[in-house]
Amino acid sequence: MDFFDRQWSTYRAVVDHDLMQHRALTAALSQAIKAWLAARPAGAPRARMVDLGCGDLAVMAPLLRGLPLGSYLGVDLSAPVLPRAAAALGPVPYPCQWRQQDLLAWAEAEPGPDAVDLLHSAFAIHHLSDDDKARFLRLCRRHLAPNGLFLWADVFRPPGEDRLAYVARYVGRIRSGWGVLAPEQQQPVIDHLSQFDLPPDRDAIRYAAEACGWQWQWLWQGDHQAEALAVLTAA
Ligand SMILES: C[S@@+](CC[C@H](N)C(=O)[O-])C[C@H]1O[C@@H](n2cnc3c(N)ncnc32)[C@H](O)[C@@H]1O
Repeated sequence: MDFFDRQWSTYRAVVDHDLMQHRALTAALSQAIKAWLAARPAGAPRARMVDLGCGDLAVMAPLLRGLPLGSYLGVDLSAPVLPRAAAALGPVPYPCQWRQQDLLAWAEAEPGPDAVDLLHSAFAIHHLSDDDKARFLRLCRRHLAPNGLFLWADVFRPPGEDRLAYVARYVGRIRSGWGVLAPEQQQPVIDHLSQFDLPPDRDAIRYAAEACGWQWQWLWQGDHQAEALAVLTAA
């Protein structure tokens, strides 16, 4: 197994054991998307969806297969996940595209003629620095159709908790509550989050979003003051 497969299989184990509460999150996401689709005016063109940091779609594929989309674009920094995502999704009655790209670069690009109706990102944006998160929020706003929806699932810090305290708390949660994973499976998660995770302060990121024209609402909160789902719409 190469480095990518080892890392990815650890993430798969985390998801399969629901250690980040993907089940409850996906149920909230599904409800939000279906309610939004149902409220679209009759005769509106089918929604164009973009998924930033789509990963292998192991979690999202069943939901995506049932959505009456106009198109789907899966974007991920990692090229090897894209064929896996395509295979997990399987045949769907709308065109799909797969693109290896940084999500910030996607936001920075000039918007094409077709605005995005449904933007989704799960557990990817927290890898950006705080300045880049704010830049991302400002730039991706230009890509969204006027009545579009941006669903952002991620890890967030409680207001006032600094990154070191967050990491220590998350590591404690893994060591005490993730016993279903062997220590040698826990350690890569701990190493990864200690090095690369930059979860935003939930109040600060909300103010940053509102300052660049978003309206922010929390849709779902996990049980651990970390995982959460926000919905952003044009203010
Ligand atoms: C933790 S996985 C989440 C995958 C999927 N969204 C899910 O919820 O199961 C994070 C994914 O985001 C991708 N990613 C991380 N940083 C990224 C970036 N700057 N631009 C695009 N993709 C990124 C990773 O390659 C990985 O596939």
